[in-house]
Amino acid sequence: MLRLLSLAALPRQVEALFESAFEFRSEPCDTPKALPDWPADAIICSPGSLKFNDAMLSRLSPTVRALATYSVGHEHIDLPACKAAGIAVFNTPDVLADSVADAALLLILGAARRITESVALIRSGAWTGWTPTQLNGTELRGKTLGILGMGTIGQRAADRARSFGMSIIYTNRRRLPANLERDARFVADAHGLAMQSDFLLLACPSTAETRHIINRALLGRARPTMILVNVGRGDLVDDDALLDALIGRRIAGAALDVFDGEPRFDRRYLEIPGVFMLPHIGSSTIEARLGMGRSLVEALRSWTAGGTPPNRLV
Ligand code: 8YV
Repeated sequence: MLRLLSLAALPRQVEALFESAFEFRSEPCDTPKALPDWPADAIICSPGSLKFNDAMLSRLSPTVRALATYSVGHEHIDLPACKAAGIAVFNTPDVLADSVADAALLLILGAARRITESVALIRSGAWTGWTPTQLNGTELRGKTLGILGMGTIGQRAADRARSFGMSIIYTNRRRLPANLERDARFVADAHGLAMQSDFLLLACPSTAETRHIINRALLGRARPTMILVNVGRGDLVDDDALLDALIGRRIAGAALDVFDGEPRFDRRYLEIPGVFMLPHIGSSTIEARLGMGRSLVEALRSWTAGGTPPNRLV
């Protein structure tokens, strides 16, 4: 039976899935110095402090032949190094898309309806009652949602946004086929998206091409009414550029679920009322967590039986 070691702390129900399928141990670890010496065949990891590069791979037990990240993002794993070491890598695409898409609309609504200020007002005890001018926000109906990265998460967010009466434009590495694009309009690049969007949603992975894709040049072309929304990765955004644009009122607001260097983040965001922030809860639903667990159970079972599961990266 496959010996599976989790270095990530997982919900109890997810651990039970792994216990029922494999010889499973959970020893959460956030530093290479504390790696358990159990001769695992496969390891579960997740985005965070452990980076699976050559140096890290050389510290793993020589019995390890597979790495399963409990995430869709895999920038914490050096895929070429794993391939060279003969280590298969799996992730959890699609199963968390509805949860993250729900969070994307939560963020869009949170910024549009000034939730940060509203929660602060009612919790401060300073609320003196409703007035016609109190915390006026904006409707979503008739607004344009630009989506940077139209994978499963972006497509599910577009479906939700359509139900709020929003128009969808997007840019992507490749244009979608008509059945997936539906009524969304393809835009050639991120700058073109920023120029035409009332809300700009980042739903793309972190890559060498996308790091700091939200920068001074792009923000300088954005509409002053634009609100930036990020459910991808914090390093898609040049924080200094975004903060300057927010403080200078060159864009209207931001709604952020991910942060460059998280859990540390630029504390200046806390001082801007038009910024709505969440602590990377995009996929944090029990449905997504169980779906991610099942996805890795099925992948590891298939792999040990000689199959090629669709969520194998190398
Ligand atoms: C993780 C994430 O799923 O999946 C990703 O890439 O960013 C997160 O939603 C979550 O942190 C569990 O590892």
